[in-house]
Amino acid sequence: MEKTTMDQDILKILYTEEEIARRIREMGAQMYEDLKGKDPLFVSVLRGAFIFMADITRACPVKCDVEFIAVSSYGNTTSSSGAVQITHDIQQDISGRDLVVVEDILDSGNTLSFLKQYFLTKGAASVSICTLLDKPSRREKAIHADYVGFEVPDEFVVGYGLDYAQKYRNLPYIGVLKPEVYSGKE
Ligand code: IMP
Ligand code: MG
Repeated sequence: MEKTTMDQDILKILYTEEEIARRIREMGAQMYEDLKGKDPLFVSVLRGAFIFMADITRACPVKCDVEFIAVSSYGNTTSSSGAVQITHDIQQDISGRDLVVVEDILDSGNTLSFLKQYFLTKGAASVSICTLLDKPSRREKAIHADYVGFEVPDEFVVGYGLDYAQKYRNLPYIGVLKPEVYSGKE
C-alpha cells in the first residue's frame, strides 16, 4: 500500500500487525488458563487501550463483562505529569469482582498504581494488570504487570491505540515516532 502521511512520521516499526496479533493470541490463551471458571471484569483504560481491549478480550474466551475508565495525566507532551485524574469512571459496583485492567503501556507506573489502589479501595476482590507494552526503564512506582505483551526500549511509541497529541492511534502497527515530529513542542 502507498505510504500514508502517518507512515511518513514513523522512524521505524517495532511490531507489525501480524506480530501483535500473534502475541495477543498467546497472551489470551495464558489469561484464559488463569481466568476460566471465574467471572472477571475487564476494565480498559481509555483511550490508549481501546484497540488492545477489543483484541485481548476476543483472544481470551472467558465469560466476562467489560468496562471503560478514562484517565488523564499526559497533556500533549511525551512524559507523564505524575498526577492522575479520572475523567470517566466505571458504571457498576465492583465489590467482590476480579478485575483485569487492560492498558496500552506501563511507563512510569503512575496510572496503573493509582488505578489499582482505586479499584481495591472500591472493593475489588483482585486486580490484575494486562499491558500490551512495558517500558521498565522509566518506572517511578513499584508496580508489576501480570500479563505483558512486549518489553519496549525507552522510546516514544505510537500506533495500535497509542497516540502522540491524540494522533496515530489508528496505525495498525507500533512504531517509533520521528523525533522531529514532537521536538520543540515539549
Ligand atoms: P504511566 O502513568 O507513566 O505509566 O503512563 C501511562 C500512560 O502514558 C499510557 O497509558 C500512555 O497513554 C502514555 N504513554 C506512556 N508512554 C507512551 C509512549 O511511548 N507512547 C504513547 N503513550 C505513552
Ligand atoms: Mg493510556
